[in-house]
Amino acid sequence: MDHVIGYNLARGLHIIAVIAWIAGLLMLPRFYAYLTAGQPGGELEASMLKAARNLRLIILGPSLVLSWVFGLYLFGAYVSGDWDRPLGDVLAGVPHWFWGKLILVLGLSGYHGFLSAEGRRLARGERRHSEKFWRRMSEIPFLVAIAAVLLATLEP
Ligand code: HEM
Repeated sequence: MDHVIGYNLARGLHIIAVIAWIAGLLMLPRFYAYLTAGQPGGELEASMLKAARNLRLIILGPSLVLSWVFGLYLFGAYVSGDWDRPLGDVLAGVPHWFWGKLILVLGLSGYHGFLSAEGRRLARGERRHSEKFWRRMSEIPFLVAIAAVLLATLEP
């Protein structure tokens, strides 16, 4: 797979994409917290809704896609050379840390989807959660990121 882009370049681009993704996931619930603290229909609400929408469109959407594209590319390169073997053998050879990481990143993608859906609800004026709830939620991506990075570097 090294003929498209090199493994180390893909690793670097993967890390850049996940930095943007995690940064966005840390900010978005904060915007929702500020918004929820403001008057319904007020100026703060309008500016936070706009900031949240831009963050989702410009940073979060593209960085989610790029994190997955480069991550799956790395995965393909990691197990490459094995593709002519039966699929069962290839899967059996996948290291354990990768399955753990896959569960974490699927969870993080689900969390991303949840935030996007809640953003659309907030834009319709539905405030289903408290300011405190959104502050709590903004801690989740950091905890998941710690686990995902250590799984990728320690490869336990
Ligand atoms: C979106 C789905 C993702 C997939 C499919 C994926 C997959 C992979 C794969 C296969 C590698 C190569 C590991 C190696 O060369 O040893 C890797 C590297 C890495 N990933 Fe991910 N990853 C994903 C998301 C993430 C996230 C969310 C983070 C951080 C929060 C992350 C952090 C890293 C780091 C730091 C490395 C470099 C590790 C090293 O070079 O030793 N990845 N990823």
